[in-house]
Amino acid sequence: MADLLGQLEALAKGAREAIGSAADEKALEDLRVRFLGKKGELSAVLRGMGALPAEERPRVGEVANRVRDEVEALLADAKGRLDARKLEAELAGPPIDVTLPGRRLLPRGHRHPITRATEDISAIFARLGYEVASGPEIELDWFNFEALNIPPDHPARDMQDTFYVEVSTLGDGAPDGSVLLRTHTSPVQIRAMQRLGVPPVRIICPGRVYRSDYDQTHSPMFHQVEGLCVDEGITFADLKGTLAAFARAYFGEGTRTRFRPSYFPFVEPGAEVDVSCSICGGTGRLPVPGGQLPPDRATRRCGTCKETGWLEVLGAGMVHPKVLENGGFDPKRYSGFAFGMGVERMAMLRYGIDDLRLYFENDLRFLEQF
Ligand code: DAH
Repeated sequence: MADLLGQLEALAKGAREAIGSAADEKALEDLRVRFLGKKGELSAVLRGMGALPAEERPRVGEVANRVRDEVEALLADAKGRLDARKLEAELAGPPIDVTLPGRRLLPRGHRHPITRATEDISAIFARLGYEVASGPEIELDWFNFEALNIPPDHPARDMQDTFYVEVSTLGDGAPDGSVLLRTHTSPVQIRAMQRLGVPPVRIICPGRVYRSDYDQTHSPMFHQVEGLCVDEGITFADLKGTLAAFARAYFGEGTRTRFRPSYFPFVEPGAEVDVSCSICGGTGRLPVPGGQLPPDRATRRCGTCKETGWLEVLGAGMVHPKVLENGGFDPKRYSGFAFGMGVERMAMLRYGIDDLRLYFENDLRFLEQF
């Protein structure tokens, strides 16, 4: 027995020295295997216990357990010491500059030009005090037409032929033909007035609209931004000032605006609004590159404004009294103006895009230019 106890004593002593001077984690692991591993020194001693008389075994077992506990504690201490030293070295070393660009830059995505134009337009009106409102794309006939002073047989419906939803299957009592994909964002005027209840109402509504059209300048789904301002004492001058300020902010400082009388059932009076052409600067002509040409050949026709110098970009007007009433406002007390613009067109004019279908084909060669 004394022999085995002596071996355990020697083992503990050896472990204290070796573990105390271990230089790294690898060395520690080797020591753990050497002392506590299956084929290690402690196991070797324990195997010798088989030869001891039964009454001596508990004593040796007790010492062996104590030695194992001690070696384990030594290893844990040493590990803690090494970790702390490593951390200190890292902290003392050169700092990591987290502002450096990554080594391999992932290609970044692009916002779609329609998204960009919508955000730009919204930001300009936000600065003028407008909040962004929204309404459903599947709309009731009442909001899309009737409440906007477009009765069932009104010819204005022909210009906005759309897709009707069969509702008999929904079983909600609405007659077929009374639910449709909205043809414009104007129904949100009514919804916004009803929701806000009291003036001032100052909202814009960007969103998707639908019509059964498809060619170079029309797609069955497109985007509009509607605007509505209602309060006491709102006049046509407010409408002109607001849209002129918007046009300068969106198309550039020198942009001029022009109002032409027009008809929309939900406004009175109504107007179509033109801005001076952003491509030729309102002159109708573009310079021809390549030097000393005679004056009559030094410029060419601007195709964007068809040489008129003007671009039609908006419909607008003073909100019709019936529309105010349908929104829950007393037209004797309140007045307002409204306007609506096509986002595809606004983006085409700003970025010089000549075919509307490009927006929805998702050809990367087109999209990556923005
Ligand atoms: N909703 C009209 C359209 O889609 C555009 C429009 C014209 C909106 C005049 C208005 C407005 O708010 O006052 O053709």
